[in-house]
Amino acid sequence: MSFLFSALLVFLLIFQFFLLFILLAIVSIVFSSIVSVPWVPTHSRIGRQMFKLADLQPEEIVVDFGCGDGSLLITAVKEFGAKRGIGYEQQLFVRWLGKLRVHLAGLSGKIEIRKENFFKVEFPKEVHVVASYLFPKTQADLEPLLRKAYPKGTRVISRTFTYPTLELIKTEKNYKNENLYLYRL
Ligand SMILES: C[S@@+](CC[C@H](N)C(=O)[O-])C[C@H]1O[C@@H](n2cnc3c(N)ncnc32)[C@H](O)[C@@H]1O
Repeated sequence: MSFLFSALLVFLLIFQFFLLFILLAIVSIVFSSIVSVPWVPTHSRIGRQMFKLADLQPEEIVVDFGCGDGSLLITAVKEFGAKRGIGYEQQLFVRWLGKLRVHLAGLSGKIEIRKENFFKVEFPKEVHVVASYLFPKTQADLEPLLRKAYPKGTRVISRTFTYPTLELIKTEKNYKNENLYLYRL
């Protein structure tokens, strides 16, 4: 009887920690969404359309600025055979979720989710396709850094939001009637 009671106590304690963890994650995500770009994942159906638009080839390298839970990178590597995916995500719990998703998909060797604020780091050197789903102001701030870091002709794809002066190559609607944009540096 006392064993059952102790087991129940341990279970309740673990459950309390679990609830606290979930609560902390929710508060952190809501707070980050208020002060910065919120996390909204891109479904693989839209990711597929974006990388088709960019004509992503196997052996190419993709970077997602603000990669959330890694949805876009997973689509790029799993469905298009991209050689590598690099993402930056500043929200702790979202990044953990991304790392877990990448691990469960068996793609840890190919996808790296970095913890940095991408405005504060040197960008990865070899990149063929840049992906982003950020607010226009953030993309406007990112634009000159992309021009500086990558050669002319590098493809840039964006969901919903535009870049102010990049050369627009093509635009398409996705199934949610949002715009998808393909640019070239
Ligand atoms: C709309 S979500 C898009 C997620 C992912 N790209 C996708 O399409 O599934 C934007 C993400 O960018 C992240 N983010 C915004 N600004 C950032 C910055 N300066 N550095 C790193 N991550 C950033 C946010 O935390 C958020 O998770």
